[in-house]
Order: sequence, then C-alpha cells, then structure tokens
Amino acid sequence: MKKTPIKHSWAEPYKIKMVELLKMTTPAQRRKAMAAAGYNTFLLKSEDVYIDLLTDSGTSAMSDRQWAGMMLGDEAYAGSANFYHLEKVVQEVYGYKYVVPTHQGRGAENILSQVMIKKGDVIPGNMYFTTTRLHQELAGGVFHDIIIDEAHDSSSQHPFKGDVDLNKLEALVREHGAEKIPYVCIAVTVNMAGGQPISLGNLKALRAYTQKLGIKIILDMTRIAENAYFIQRREPGYQNKSIRSIVKEICNCTDGATMSAKKDALVNIGGFMALNDPDDYEEASNLVVVYEGLHTYGGLAGRDMEAMAIGIMESVSDDHIKARIGQVIYLGEQMMQMGIPITEPIGGHGIFIDAKRFLPHVPQDLFPAQALAAELYIDSGVRTMERGIVSAGRNAKTGENYYPKLELVRLTIPRRVYTQAHMDVIAESVANVYEKRKKIKGLRMIYEPRYLRFFQARFEKIR
Ligand code: F0G
Repeated sequence: MKKTPIKHSWAEPYKIKMVELLKMTTPAQRRKAMAAAGYNTFLLKSEDVYIDLLTDSGTSAMSDRQWAGMMLGDEAYAGSANFYHLEKVVQEVYGYKYVVPTHQGRGAENILSQVMIKKGDVIPGNMYFTTTRLHQELAGGVFHDIIIDEAHDSSSQHPFKGDVDLNKLEALVREHGAEKIPYVCIAVTVNMAGGQPISLGNLKALRAYTQKLGIKIILDMTRIAENAYFIQRREPGYQNKSIRSIVKEICNCTDGATMSAKKDALVNIGGFMALNDPDDYEEASNLVVVYEGLHTYGGLAGRDMEAMAIGIMESVSDDHIKARIGQVIYLGEQMMQMGIPITEPIGGHGIFIDAKRFLPHVPQDLFPAQALAAELYIDSGVRTMERGIVSAGRNAKTGENYYPKLELVRLTIPRRVYTQAHMDVIAESVANVYEKRKKIKGLRMIYEPRYLRFFQARFEKIR
C-alpha cells in the first residue's frame, strides 16, 4: 500500500499533559464481548474498547483552561455566574440574543419543538437527525427531507452536500401552505449525510425565500465550526475570513438554534437553545423549568456551563479546527488509497464507510452496516457505529421500516483525543476486514426497542 503524505501539516496546536490508560484485548475476548453485546456496539463495555469511534459526542479532551474553569463553578441554584459567562459568550460568538441552557442537545430539541410546532405542522430539514426528528414528531409535526439529491449519493463529489434543494421546499409550501411550516430546520455539517457542509450561498438563498413567506429558520448548530472550515476552504470569497466570522455569518441567517455542546464546543456534557424572538424565549425559558431545570442552569452544574463557555471560544479558533479536520482527512485519505468505499468528499467529524459497496452481497434487510461495525470491533477493538437501516427506524404512522439510501458505518473521531498512530491502526483494521469481507453474512434483529432502536437493539449472526 503506497502512502502519499498530505500536502499541508495539520499538526495539533496543543501538547499532552495527562493520559488515560487503555486495556488491550485479544480477538477471542472481543468475539465474546461482541456476542454478549448482541452485535450492537452501543452495548459494549467501554473498558473492552481500544479506540472508541462510536461518537464525537461528549468524548472530547478538555483543555487545561476548561479544567481550570471547572474549579470556578458557581453552584448556586439560581443566577450562577457561569450562566452569565455562557450567555455572554453565546451572544458574542454566535450573535443570538437569548440563551437557555439544557443538559444536552436533545433537551433543547424537546423544548424548541414544543414551543414552535403545532399538531399537523410540516418541518422541512436538510436530512433528518434521529433525536431531532423524533422530538418534531412527538410535538405533532411531520419531518420532510429537502436536502439536495447528491447528499444521498455517497460517491457524489458535490462540495456542499448539506445544501437545501429550494424546489423541494417550494413544492412543500405549495402542497401545505406556508402557515403550516413554522420553521425550516437546518443542520450544519449534516451528520447523517457524512458530516457534509451547507454553503453560505445556499443558506442566504433559503433565507431570502423563507423571509418572504414568514417562515423561520432554526439551526442545529451542533458542528458549526466544522461547517465554517469547509466554507473557508471551498466557498469563493471566504478564504481570508476567520472561522469565527464565518460562524457568526451562518447564525445571522437564522432565527434561533439548538446546540449539542458535546461536539464542537469541546465539553463532555451540555447544550443550549439560542433564540432572537422574545416571545419564543419567554415560552422556552418557562418550559425548561419543567424538563431540565431553572432557566439559568437547565440541568447543568455551574462548572459545566463554565467549561462550555471556554470550549466555545476554543472551538472557533482557526488553528484548532484545521488540526481537528486535518486528522479526519488524514484517516480518510488512507482509506481512499486502499480502495475502501467511503462517503466523499471526506466530512467534518468522521469517516463514513459505505456498507452497501463494502458488502454488496449482504441485502439491507440483513443490516450490512451493523454487521460491518461488529466485525471491525472483533478485528481490532475499534468501536464504530451503524448509520443505516437500524438508525433510520420505522415510520411512526405506518410502522414500516425506513430504507435509507445511505447504509453507512461511522468512524467518528473524538476531538483532541487520539494520535496519528491511532489513525494508522484504524486504517489497517478496515483494510483487514475488507480483505475478508466475503465471509460477512449479515445479522438478524432479535430485539427491537420502541424508540431510537439503534441504541439498544440486539442481533444474532446469520450462519
Ligand atoms: N443534532 C445533531 C446533528 C447531533 O449529531 C446530535 C447528537 C444531536 C442533535 C443531539 O444532541 O446527543 O447532545 O442530545 N449526536 C450524537 C452522535 C449522539 O453520536 O452523532 P445530544
């Protein structure tokens, strides 16, 4: 296998002060652990995992400054100093007026959906995300995907596969009427599409169209700095703009946002809702008391809000984001050189292996991505996750399985956690499994939970 070095160094703008020791396991131990976990990587014990690529959510390494901030926790029930620090940072960095903290992203999604959605409403979005869509449905809404077709094609080279197809939105407006659409839900570096960005040009066109109709735009700003990096790299006119200014420009095109701070913002727990409309804010800050906690802590400790405020500032540094995505691209380029089918262009938070092309002999009903994730773990102790038919779940009304076009295994890279040598181990393991791919037969689901089944479903091997 020939390796060509990537052109620009992405070396990390930090050094290591503390390490976490890992247990090394044998293939026999891993085979046993995987069977005991029902071939679902979510059910593995973390101590049995060597390199954990299950998610980039809550798995970042905090900086010395964030840890120091934890010591400044003001654990008052009401009016914590850390809340006001967080509020100021969100206002300055993202530009929204009001901030409501929540324990994590889905806490914000729950409240925002209850505030903004009425029964029978239609919520267009640039591809679904599992928890986001479920909260929209629980609030009485129906989600409609309006992302461009290229997003559903893992080999399309479109530079902004997170873009919205305005024709699809117009068709929804014609069918249902603008009054049935409270907002368009826009995700940055679209998770389920493989971490693919939306362009500012597309967002501005969407803004111009929706403003005429009185439809709001709510941003899922979970990985916004990563999206800004792709805009800086790919969108004409942004090469000399800072990540921080691009982030602000994205937010300026929207009316509010939900945030899982466990990703971009480099904390292990936390989230928030940010809004500009005073009435929406009033209702949200009232409802948050029911589900999360008082509107100045929203289910978080003061120290968590302090770490988040500091993490947001670190997340919009150009040097940080260049190294973060540089590492992801380093891994992705190795896989491409080995001929592994992955979602292209390489996305922001991980590498997505196309299980349909990796295992063309395994039909989607036998869960090819789930089976591949299990084999990767057994091969090397690398834990990945399924993003395909298991994640897509069933239609809430008809009970039918959704059959997503994309059947992916996600190798999500935690921020500031693993080294370049770890990336090499991952690539070698994927190559190993690729060589023996014909032996993988697929899985049968033997237990299916009612909500978000991918977290807890259990499987057995097809012999
Ligand atoms: N929106 C996006 C785009 C996400 O990726 C997530 C979480 C959420 C919302 C929900 O936030 O977990 O803090 O409640 N994604 C994680 C993942 C779970 O692994 O991709 P949360």
